[in-house]
Amino acid sequence: MDGNGRWAKAQGKPRIFGHKNGVEAVRKTISAAAKLGISVVTLFAFSSENWRRPEEEVAVLMGLFVTVLSTEVKKLHKNNFCLRIIGDKSRFNENLQKKMAQAEQMTAMNTGMVINIAANYGGKWDITEAMKKIAIKVQSEELQPSDIDENLITNHLATSNIPEVDLLIRTSGECRISNFVLWQLAYAEIYFIPICWPDFGEDSLIEAVTWFVDRERRFGCTDEQIS
Ligand code: IPE
Ligand code: MG
Repeated sequence: MDGNGRWAKAQGKPRIFGHKNGVEAVRKTISAAAKLGISVVTLFAFSSENWRRPEEEVAVLMGLFVTVLSTEVKKLHKNNFCLRIIGDKSRFNENLQKKMAQAEQMTAMNTGMVINIAANYGGKWDITEAMKKIAIKVQSEELQPSDIDENLITNHLATSNIPEVDLLIRTSGECRISNFVLWQLAYAEIYFIPICWPDFGEDSLIEAVTWFVDRERRFGCTDEQIS
């Protein structure tokens, strides 16, 4: 979800105005995704690198997380959505950590669409943590080095609940991955659009999914094999 700041700036408004409108785009996107029958949506809300932003902006974003978690979780629960927060939560303040845990607990048994919020998340962080967990198990001889395969690595990631990514959408015209889920992006179709995140919504999601269904996904095979 990129471009909140530039969207606001283009209107002569402070960056925070963009973040607030970004929340509305999240609402629209989640409801459109559910209508389309998408089973998992992962939103990159805050990266491990976003702490480098000015203190006031970080504080406002944290405040926004708390507010959104407080106001939205009941609605998500009513819709049978399962909310998961992925990332290193230990760096958030106690109140926010509590809200995150409550939101996850409330929706944990829901069977509908899974919504992952990546917060203080980095793809490299995720892989590094998985490696540490595996190394500890090898050290204690719970695992042998020969047990390490792709599935085992996947199962040790914070994102182990997400399947391989089918479609990655990045808004705001930037053409990079910026340390988002790296491992499961191996065969993702990557869609870059120029519009900023606050302008994203049902129509943009439908356009992206329409583009996606027309892609021929070969996974290393030839097109003859696929057809
Ligand atoms: C995305 O918008 C929201 C977050 C990363 C929290 P940005 O804040 O990155 O907006 P730009 O890229 O500066 O326009
Ligand atoms: Mg940005």
